[in-house]
Amino acid sequence: MRKNIVAGNWKMNTTLPEGLALAKGLDEALKGKTPNCDVIIGTPFTHLASVAAAIDTNKIGVAAENCADKEKGAYTGEVSAAMVASTGAKYVILGHSERRAYYHETPEILKTKVELALANGLTPIFCIGEVLEEREAGKHFEVVDAQIKGSLFDLSAEDFAKIVLAYEPVWAIGTGKTATSDQAEEIHAHIRATLAAKYGQEIADNCTILYGGSCNASNAKELFAKPNVDGGLIGGASLAVDKFMPIIEAFN
Ligand code: G3P
Repeated sequence: MRKNIVAGNWKMNTTLPEGLALAKGLDEALKGKTPNCDVIIGTPFTHLASVAAAIDTNKIGVAAENCADKEKGAYTGEVSAAMVASTGAKYVILGHSERRAYYHETPEILKTKVELALANGLTPIFCIGEVLEEREAGKHFEVVDAQIKGSLFDLSAEDFAKIVLAYEPVWAIGTGKTATSDQAEEIHAHIRATLAAKYGQEIADNCTILYGGSCNASNAKELFAKPNVDGGLIGGASLAVDKFMPIIEAFN
């Protein structure tokens, strides 16, 4: 059956010393504990190798927040999936709405990134989600379907089975406005049905679908109690151990 996961996405926050202290603090807080979910931290590229070396990566997985859509070569400033994998990171967050909106990442670009991530042994945490106008127009179901189909549905069943999805309604990101647990459950169940129609019920049932968007210690328990919400992708509340730990413990 599918895994529960609580993943942090630090975004463009923390210097290297600050990030190392945060990662070590989380590692320390998890000592002697066996959470009922996998724990992942998504850090800036500059932190990946040092963070992976400083923590018990059997307990805390490390994720990049992006990777290039090219394999290697003359792409100044880019970081390839192979480079990410060589740091000890095992995951890569792809398709975050900030990357789609600010860096113009299209479904086609993301499709290539997903393929390169998988080819290099990384697990993509693939983000989908609608903006407010789309939600208000009742288009959120078709928006997430198009995002999934446009970037993931050319994958073989074997490769698709390696994907983690994160539903992040853009109107809930960093706004303090969370989707209700019923709204999250409704769309997560819809997403799972979309996956089942393409890859069959077993693969759909085994796919972890995270919720992201102002998830915190006070709403995590209710969100994670929903049958199709398998954990969270956490932004702001992943930047302090005492805010992140209660979200991890929401599964206990
Ligand atoms: O990827 C996590 C994210 O976008 C949610 O951010 O700060 O609303 O938890 P935040």
